[in-house]
Amino acid sequence: MIGLFDTGHGGLTIYQALAKHLPQRNFIYFGDHANAPYGTKPASEILELTKSAIEMLFNRGCPLVVLACNTATAVALRQLQQNWLPNSVHKNKRVLGIIVPTVEVATSTHDDASETLVVFGTQRTIESGVYEVEIHKRNPQAKVIPQTCAQLAGAIENGASEGELEQLVSEAVRECLQKTDGKAPQRALLGCTHFPIVEHLFKKHLPTSTQILSQGAAVADRLIDYLKRHPEFAQNENKQTDLFLTSGDALRVKADAKRFLGVFLPFEKCP
Ligand code: DGL
Repeated sequence: MIGLFDTGHGGLTIYQALAKHLPQRNFIYFGDHANAPYGTKPASEILELTKSAIEMLFNRGCPLVVLACNTATAVALRQLQQNWLPNSVHKNKRVLGIIVPTVEVATSTHDDASETLVVFGTQRTIESGVYEVEIHKRNPQAKVIPQTCAQLAGAIENGASEGELEQLVSEAVRECLQKTDGKAPQRALLGCTHFPIVEHLFKKHLPTSTQILSQGAAVADRLIDYLKRHPEFAQNENKQTDLFLTSGDALRVKADAKRFLGVFLPFEKCP
């Protein structure tokens, strides 16, 4: 069983890709809707909330947890992997993030090594600088344009209207195009798992030639490879119904998941 964690709905965009590419695996999804958004919280709080979520998923029988959240990956993953997990009762379990897998796929699929690549993310993800560092490790020639969308994930969580969401997306795109002097970036990476929910709005406001990368497909690709290299996490299981847990109001979360993703997901309140 693979645990997936996000602050709210965003990680469902990763879940959908994983469920499609790994149909035989069982997943438990946990959205910490009661505490979302994380993107503007202090790092210490993000660390503690992420650790509690991972522990809960470990205790529910997931030996492997994927942080389906860029903010938690950027802020908490390394510390948890290096300082907490090896010294905890869960030391044989594993936590994976989604930034390196995304960057691995992004940097191996460019047509032009000196491309301009814009990365949209939450305040904490962009401040961490992790996307630039990881992209430049693999392609020092890429011109990376980091663009904060500080309010967008929170607006999605709060069920903002289409008009309000469009306003936030258009502002972020306008700011990013100011940084490129109006030139169309070759590619855009939606570096917050909430943002593919409004990918149609990014498409509408970005230049038509800008290609939007899919983080879900990248994470699925790298996870399939990881499971091949780590057969201990790839035991044969009977496929059961995936479990969807929330720390928030399950009724509201179900309704929002239907609105944003067009599917019914049977969220339960996590005790
Ligand atoms: N979906 C998350 C991410 O990928 C977090 C958004 C938030 O809670 O601010 O960054």
